[in-house]
Amino acid sequence: MLTVAGFILTSCEGPMGPAGKDANESCTTCHNSEVVEAKVIEYDHSLHFSGEAFEEGTRNNCAPCHSHQGFLNVIEKKTPVTFTPNPADATKFINNYVAEASALNLPGRITCFTCHDSLHTSYTQEDFMPLSTVAEVPMTMWGGSKKINFAKTSSNLCAKCHQPRPVTAASGNVIDYSKLVSAPTTTYNLSSISYRTGIHYGSHGAIAAGVGAIEFGTGYTNSVHVTSASCALCHMSAPSGLAGGHSFNAAGSFTGCNVSGCHSTMSATNTTYTVAVADVKAKLTALATKINAIGAGKDILQKDPTDNQYNGYFDIFDASANPTGYWKNPSQGNVAFPALTNAQFGAILNYQLVFRDASKGIHNYPYVKKLLENTIAAI
Ligand code: HEC
Ligand code: HEC
Ligand code: HEC
Ligand code: HEC
Ligand code: HEC
Repeated sequence: MLTVAGFILTSCEGPMGPAGKDANESCTTCHNSEVVEAKVIEYDHSLHFSGEAFEEGTRNNCAPCHSHQGFLNVIEKKTPVTFTPNPADATKFINNYVAEASALNLPGRITCFTCHDSLHTSYTQEDFMPLSTVAEVPMTMWGGSKKINFAKTSSNLCAKCHQPRPVTAASGNVIDYSKLVSAPTTTYNLSSISYRTGIHYGSHGAIAAGVGAIEFGTGYTNSVHVTSASCALCHMSAPSGLAGGHSFNAAGSFTGCNVSGCHSTMSATNTTYTVAVADVKAKLTALATKINAIGAGKDILQKDPTDNQYNGYFDIFDASANPTGYWKNPSQGNVAFPALTNAQFGAILNYQLVFRDASKGIHNYPYVKKLLENTIAAI
């Protein structure tokens, strides 16, 4: 990443400072080793900076979460997550949650300016806050009928991108997930099913809020994390090892847990932690086993050859993404994918939601525990 301090102090090019102020002085408020340079070093460890997913931002339906321009575009335009009838074709629907064409060329990675969109406006430290958005997040998975709204509102910034995506019908409309619960034994026909069918990768915001899974049964409660913690508290705690600060990484770091009013002895060997992690892992395995049993000897879910885990994809043949997939594979007898019930399809969505959340239950253990128990009981 570009470090600009030296460049500014020698030539002071770049954006003009506010009129009547000493440019160097206003620039060095931030461009110094304690502020921008320190955060840039932390940020170099973030997947937001080092990952390649921003390249997906050339597509209008991916850009809202994958590119700098797409994200700021949907914020600026207050783009709704609704599905509405297509004026050009009465049988079809449009997913309105897309970035405008002007935001799609040469998509940029997520930078300081993506989350802090007031930078370089007043040229004071105040430009870091407010964040680009902290508004409640209508869920694209639910066409806006469910919303994520954290008490610690900075978490809404994260959830705007770290939220699941919709399953859509042939019409393009979002499916009616309520049927998965209310008509559990009916054969699922609300959408087609292929290798990648599902909720995409960003389930963290939904699980951390306890909103938006396919809720079979009753008895759902949330962790105290939902109201008292925040994404930043755990993912941006004081840097420790390869985690914390603007690395956004929480792996192996307990710094954010052991703060006043929260925990005092949380660690990788604390039983509160190890019991929850082991329980979620066991329940996820039990759910995968039950889902796979539908295939009567052949897995329903793909076992990822790189890590030997069921990552939530269907083991359906896909010429590029899953050429060795069993179901519908022309070179393995083109076996039809088994009919699923509504409840079974909902169970697979819940498996994806919890597996891809990847917090091993830490985001919201009571919710995840009940969700897995009720899902296993429902199929
Ligand atoms: C509120 C804090 C703040 C102030 C004040 C500030 N900057 Fe920046 N500036 C940043 C941040 C954060 C970045 C992004 C750093 C990075 O990504 O490496 C940045 C990046 C830059 C860049 C790199 C190009 C770009 O836009 O990403 C230039 C050039 C620059 N600043 C010049 C200036 C000048 C000149 C001033 C004073 C007139 C100034 N900045 C004042 C925070 C600030
Ligand atoms: C503009 C959308 C956007 C926002 C806002 C955002 N993220 Fe991300 N985040 C992403 C994307 C996309 C990736 C994957 C990047 C890649 O692989 O190239 C990611 C990756 C991550 C990862 C690494 C995940 C992994 O697989 O290792 C963490 C942790 C993370 N984000 C946490 C946060 C937190 C915490 C916030 C709020 C402070 C936040 N993100 C805000 C889009 C966003
Ligand atoms: C609602 C926000 C959102 C939308 C829209 C979205 N993504 Fe993502 N996507 C994410 C987040 C968040 C991650 C990072 C998850 C993580 O690393 O834990 C991600 C990760 C990915 C990854 C990396 C997966 C991996 O292997 O870890 C790919 C590839 C991807 N998205 C493709 C797409 C494509 C293609 C589209 C459009 C068709 C799209 N995404 C639309 C939020 C979104
Ligand atoms: C994915 C979103 C995201 C990105 C990208 C990001 N930040 Fe932040 N930043 C935050 C959040 C959220 C906070 C508030 C953290 C908290 O509440 O503890 C924050 C806080 C800060 C603060 C403290 C501000 C204050 O007034 O308390 C500074 C300074 C800062 N960021 C600088 C940067 C710089 C420099 C970059 C680029 C290298 C950057 N940020 C990139 C989300 C982001
Ligand atoms: C109570 C602390 C806590 C809170 C609150 C929290 N996280 Fe996490 N998160 C974790 C832990 C712990 C992990 C697991 C890290 C590991 O071991 O890989 C994790 C995992 C993740 C991952 C997957 C990282 C990976 O390596 O695949 C993402 C992305 C993420 N969280 C995003 C978020 C977002 C977005 C929020 C807010 C909506 C949030 N988290 C709130 C603690 C927290």
